[in-house]
Amino acid sequence: MNTDSNRVPRLALSDGATIPQLGLGVWQIPQGRAAELVGEALRLGYRHIDTAQMYGNEEGVGEAVRRSGLPRDEVFITTKCRNDRHGHRAAVEALEASLERLELARVDLYLIHWPQPSRDRYVETWEGLIEARERGLTRSIGVSNFHAAHLDRIISATGVVPAVNQIELHPWLTQDALVAANRRLGIQVESWSPLAAGEILDDETLRSIAQAHGRSVAQVVIRWHLQLEHIVIPKSARAERMAANLAVFDFELGVEEMRRISALNRDRRTGPDPDDF
Ligand SMILES: NC(=O)c1ccc[n+]([C@@H]2O[C@H](COP(=O)([O-])OP(=O)(O)OC[C@H]3O[C@@H](n4cnc5c(N)ncnc54)[C@H](OP(=O)(O)O)[C@@H]3O)[C@@H](O)[C@H]2O)c1
Repeated sequence: MNTDSNRVPRLALSDGATIPQLGLGVWQIPQGRAAELVGEALRLGYRHIDTAQMYGNEEGVGEAVRRSGLPRDEVFITTKCRNDRHGHRAAVEALEASLERLELARVDLYLIHWPQPSRDRYVETWEGLIEARERGLTRSIGVSNFHAAHLDRIISATGVVPAVNQIELHPWLTQDALVAANRRLGIQVESWSPLAAGEILDDETLRSIAQAHGRSVAQVVIRWHLQLEHIVIPKSARAERMAANLAVFDFELGVEEMRRISALNRDRRTGPDPDDF
């Protein structure tokens, strides 16, 4: 059943850890269904789960990992610091509370969920994440929704470069300049809403490419992310879609197909601009 877990490549992080390139996002999976659905994902072969304090489902994620019987080191768990827990101590305490809900000794990756520049506390929050890593509460630390200016500020203040920046990224929002800025700094790029929250699945160009490969549009879009070396975390609450989204390691998009997909960019966000949120 879980043969695909062996096929998901792991990408190297700048701190020496590695991350499975494809995982399951669990935003909008309610707490009451999280244990069942994450359990199903682990049975199908997923080994990377992306949750957050704001998703309200960490208990279910932790329960699924324990019930799976998988060795802890085989499952990569990300959580994210809530927007109302910015500040050095608050960010550390928020992670301690996450670990209690997850019933885990540590997570694999802890991210600042949003920079919230209007509050201007993300530098001290980043200092809190550095302490959390030093104390072993998380293996790696990173950020989410950071523009290049936010990255430059935390790095010049602390000298510590995030391992990952999780940003909205899909064929309608390719964020070329921000991706390049991350690459220059050695930061792995992780795509959230990789399917544009499902909105992109009717696109005609994607349909014709999918048809040519005998694949679904979602599979083609996930493949585009993988070939661009994005970490990708599609969400589905349906077992058959979870399975299909993982079955993307036996075909390849050509150079011209990749170019046509990237050309769909229209700078269109499905979520807020981090500068205003
Ligand atoms: N850091 C951040 O600020 C941030 C923000 C947003 C999201 N995220 C993370 O990114 C993850 C993914 O983003 P997302 O949930 O917004 O959107 P997404 O993964 O781009 O799309 C999910 C939507 O597509 C549908 N879908 C999934 N696979 C499908 C398939 N094979 N065929 C047809 N429809 C399919 C899902 O419906 P069903 O569930 O009904 O299958 C759901 O409606 C989140 O779960 C979360 O972990 C992070």
